[in-house]
Amino acid sequence: MSKTAILEFDGKKYEFPVVKGSENEEAIDINKLRDLTGAITLDPGYKNSGSCTSKITFLDGELGILRYRGYSIEDLAEKADFLEVSFLLIFGELPTAAQLKQFEVDIRKHTLVNEEMKNIIDGFPRTAHPMGVLAALTSALTAFNPKSVNVDNEKEMYHAVCKTMGKFLVIATWTYRKSMGYPLNYYDNTKGYVENFMRLMFELPTEPYKPNPIVIDALDKLFILHADHEQNCSTSTVRMVGSSHAGLFASISAGVSALWGPLHGGANQAVLEMLEEIHANGGDTDAYLAKAKDKNDPFRLMGFGHRVYKNFDPRAKIIKKAANEVLATLGVDDPILEIAKKLEAAALEDEYFKARNLYPNVDFYSGIIYRALGIPTDMFTVMFAIGRLPGWIAQWKEMRENKEPIGRPRQIYTGESLRDFKKPE
Ligand code: SDX
Repeated sequence: MSKTAILEFDGKKYEFPVVKGSENEEAIDINKLRDLTGAITLDPGYKNSGSCTSKITFLDGELGILRYRGYSIEDLAEKADFLEVSFLLIFGELPTAAQLKQFEVDIRKHTLVNEEMKNIIDGFPRTAHPMGVLAALTSALTAFNPKSVNVDNEKEMYHAVCKTMGKFLVIATWTYRKSMGYPLNYYDNTKGYVENFMRLMFELPTEPYKPNPIVIDALDKLFILHADHEQNCSTSTVRMVGSSHAGLFASISAGVSALWGPLHGGANQAVLEMLEEIHANGGDTDAYLAKAKDKNDPFRLMGFGHRVYKNFDPRAKIIKKAANEVLATLGVDDPILEIAKKLEAAALEDEYFKARNLYPNVDFYSGIIYRALGIPTDMFTVMFAIGRLPGWIAQWKEMRENKEPIGRPRQIYTGESLRDFKKPE
């Protein structure tokens, strides 16, 4: 006998079914709530509301668990590479060696971006934030690929996946090249995906370029750690935009804009700026902890806290370990890393943070590695977007395959009642 929930409202009792997930999470299905009671629920920020069922990612915020298609993030970060994890998220199973090879070959068929896209990027000032340029260029891809994908046609969907994976990486690196006034690079189809990222970003026509394999490995792991995270703000945006049957590029472009916010993916840039400010002000971490706790001060400890994790973000643990290893291996002695560790240790001991279950999240240490790898601060959130791309694609694909209805939340109106039209004197 499946569980139900009883609601007593306006003197009447109503019974609603309870949905149970494969990891035993439970949800009250309120599909019939308004028809039966005339009332709706109200949940700003959707802290208690599920938007969908999904088979892609499972996370347990209390236990600090994260799994993609059932595989632990620890195993995937250790044993898989980014394209393998992208395939897993999007198609549901780890690829065989042959499938992975074919996936890379098929992505390479789409790594040449239409030359006319350069006219669009030329329209931006060099000072434009890379995330704003990336959102625009991603949307502009629709102009060169106007036919929206038939999600029910497996071949067409696979083709759209490969095209998105191929083109997005190139235009993401163009945002950096534009900011530096460098010529825009082309993907080298003889090299790997993550190695291409480094070449697209840093290779100059004036001298030979050989990316450091340690850097490529570290980036591959970072992209895996960012690849999906169930219904976060930007992924929910991609699903919402896609629910109107807007195209994949348009939906991803909306996700890029949502990710840009400093409360979401933009936090990795904000963390580095915060740590640099603390360093410039003599490294007084206690003063910044006090600011973060002061209700009259809008300052928040960037890279701390999470809507779902009320325990350590498992990704933060892996990134912290990788930060130590990468900086040691590269021989980088960054005082910012020491400040981050000091800030973390103090916050984890502090009653305010402990009482609110505020722990370091994925953004707290990632910027320190990016900086050590030579990635400029305003490109940190673009790095997040490159990692999150397969998750956005997977979630968009699942939403469309499940034929989910167009997203359209309701509201409670609290404005003026009906009034006669009279022009003010
Ligand atoms: C990402 O959702 C995802 O999965 C996102 C993400 C992903 O992979 O997609 O994991 C990536 O976005 C990570 C989060 C990056 N953002 C930051 O690091 C920005 C700093 N953190 C916060 O602003 C905040 O913690 C959020 C936005 C992440 C979560 O905010 P919530 O869930 O809405 O929590 P809240 O704002 O209601 O805070 C609860 C309490 C409040 O205090 P009280 O009113 O109870 O006294 O905790 C306090 C907040 O003031 N608080 C903080 C804090 N975060 C929360 N106080 C100081 N510093 C902080 N960082």
